[in-house]
Amino acid sequence: MVASSRPLFALQGRVALITGAGRGLGYEMAKALARAGAAVVINGRDAGRLEAAVTSLRRETEAEVDAMAFDVADYPAAQAALAAIVARYGRLDILVNNVGARDRRPLDAFTPEEVQQLIATDLIAPALLAREAAAIMKRQGHGRLIFMTSIVGHVANRGDSVYTAAKGGVTGLMRALAVDHAREGITSNAIAPGMFATETNAHLVTDADFSRFVDVRVPIGRWGKPEEIGAAAVFLASDEASFVNGHVLTVDGGQTVRM
Ligand SMILES: NC(=O)c1ccc[n+]([C@@H]2O[C@H](COP(=O)([O-])OP(=O)(O)OC[C@H]3O[C@@H](n4cnc5c(N)ncnc54)[C@H](OP(=O)(O)O)[C@@H]3O)[C@@H](O)[C@H]2O)c1
Repeated sequence: MVASSRPLFALQGRVALITGAGRGLGYEMAKALARAGAAVVINGRDAGRLEAAVTSLRRETEAEVDAMAFDVADYPAAQAALAAIVARYGRLDILVNNVGARDRRPLDAFTPEEVQQLIATDLIAPALLAREAAAIMKRQGHGRLIFMTSIVGHVANRGDSVYTAAKGGVTGLMRALAVDHAREGITSNAIAPGMFATETNAHLVTDADFSRFVDVRVPIGRWGKPEEIGAAAVFLASDEASFVNGHVLTVDGGQTVRM
């Protein structure tokens, strides 16, 4: 039961780990979770980038923000990071599995090793991190697993099969964990962004042909602004979303519902 005097979606007392949060959508979700009151740990591989992000997040939110640099595909390093979070904060309530390496090429342009590497980062790493986090959340009787999938988790793009396969896998994984952990106080949900003007997409944002494509395909008629993703994470992480489980929250300006 949520107390009526408490603001909606408040996250005071909650501890969140957001992977790949030194920039882009991960950074924006970390900022939104911190603004809602959560203590936030951001991850990435580049310690310098993370340090700069911690400084600006602390300045912008006045929340408790820390960084842990590790490659999400390095399982022992991920396990050690989760243990360090529990040692430091005593709990982990929210895992936002945000890292997703982007490689737009047709399948026959990949080497077998490149296929395995992309799947290792985009699907296997979030699965193993979720497994470790769920064990902690089960002991607490509370947890929120949030996966970053993509609209390519439900519609396909030409020449983009490996990333599409990984994101389809992430969506399936999220649903499977929603079923497995539902009686343990843990929910599992996903966010499916459409096209966002992040640094990764900077070359497409400035491409005139691609801008025309965005204008035609996205009913709202523009790229998503990175800060437009944060509220989705706050909602799924909140106590108010306690009966939302196994859901994909699409944030795409209507792209996937247009005829
Ligand atoms: N942008 C979009 O339009 C869009 C659309 C649909 C879905 N998505 C999904 O949303 C998520 C975020 O996208 P984004 O464009 O914001 O991401 P991004 O800017 O490409 O990456 C965010 C951060 O992830 C970190 N990172 C990359 N590989 C890592 C690894 N192996 N271990 C730890 N950190 C790693 C990078 O930091 P370091 O260099 O410090 O490691 C980077 O700062 C992804 O899952 C993506 O697939 C994005």
